[in-house]
Amino acid sequence: MHDHLMNTYARLPVAFERGEGAWLWDEDGKRYLDAISGLGVTALGHAHPRVTAVIAEQAGLLMHTANLARIPWQEKLATRLAEISALDRAFIANSGTEAIECALKIVRLAGHERGIDLPGVIVMESSFHGRSLAALSATGSRKVQAGFEPLVGGFVRVPFNDPQAIEKIASHANEVTAILVEPIQGEAGIRVPDRGYLAALRKICDQQGWLLIFDEIQSGLCRTGRWYAYQHEEVLPDILTTAKALANGLPISACLARGKSAELLTPGRHGSTFGGNPLACRTACTVLDVMQQEGLSARAEQLGHTMLAAFRERLGQHPAVVAIRGRGLMIGIELDREADHLKELALQQNLLLNVTQHKVIRLLPPLIIDAAQAEEIVAKVCGLVEGL
Ligand SMILES: Cc1ncc(COP(=O)(O)O)c(C=O)c1O
Repeated sequence: MHDHLMNTYARLPVAFERGEGAWLWDEDGKRYLDAISGLGVTALGHAHPRVTAVIAEQAGLLMHTANLARIPWQEKLATRLAEISALDRAFIANSGTEAIECALKIVRLAGHERGIDLPGVIVMESSFHGRSLAALSATGSRKVQAGFEPLVGGFVRVPFNDPQAIEKIASHANEVTAILVEPIQGEAGIRVPDRGYLAALRKICDQQGWLLIFDEIQSGLCRTGRWYAYQHEEVLPDILTTAKALANGLPISACLARGKSAELLTPGRHGSTFGGNPLACRTACTVLDVMQQEGLSARAEQLGHTMLAAFRERLGQHPAVVAIRGRGLMIGIELDREADHLKELALQQNLLLNVTQHKVIRLLPPLIIDAAQAEEIVAKVCGLVEGL
């Protein structure tokens, strides 16, 4: 632990000095294959030339004006995000947590407009939505919440992937105004719900007059083989949160909404000093261009199929493997035992991966990996599991 940093992270014993594509080099010049992309952020890989160039150019022109003036790159980004999500308007912020805060504030306004004094939100067990007080209160993890009481109120928790549990409480949940859900739970260990789950939630929300919020901070932006994971089904949320890969490493996020929900925030009700500055927004526009022009959704879908099939073939019958789950390049391998030490073992084999919930190997490789890199990840991860 460093003397002058708060002790918030259990860090690996390595520091990276530079990166290129899916490769990272540490301070001693040792090369690693990156199978986690800085937790789903560097989807275009490290030092992508178009991203580097646009950052350099915009930094030399104008980085920041605050939202005191129009910001044309913010307007362009909002238009692009509206196009790819099919929602109407965006608020641009700096982190996933802030996008969630924005979504929750919209829900409160929507509830009050409907005459509900204490608007509530149905949230899921084992969900993760961030670390601010409201976001951790929405999160379905006692570990994330413990010690930070009093929690923000108004959250009603139900099991994930269980629409009937919501139907049961719907008739007497008078204060509920919205459902907040990750279309694929990330921190929980890449939990993919049954087909039809999102549509069932949409139906309940339509019947009850509730808002449906999809948190795609981890699953969004081509990761699962679509711009957003909800696009695998014919379902549209009312509110969407997106972040992580949006500017390939520059901090940025967005909360999008459609219809009346998109009109509730008015001047003075919400804001952010840094949010939506020209540097981050122009970079995000370039990232979206690259994702589209390089067909990264299709690539994620295809490589994901190949990797999942390879994992299932080699590890499907392994006694330590409980489940192999995923969609596109969002892959989880659940083990029957604690396996945090695999992060260090992988590092020794020049592979960077993540273990979530102590038992689930989580892979979020950059979307630009090639077939040989995908094979190397599969081979090394299988070797690690077989060595357990
Ligand atoms: C689904 C989801 N929501 C919210 C967050 C919080 O985002 P941030 O860490 O950028 O605040 C995360 C981060 O991992 C996430 O995966």
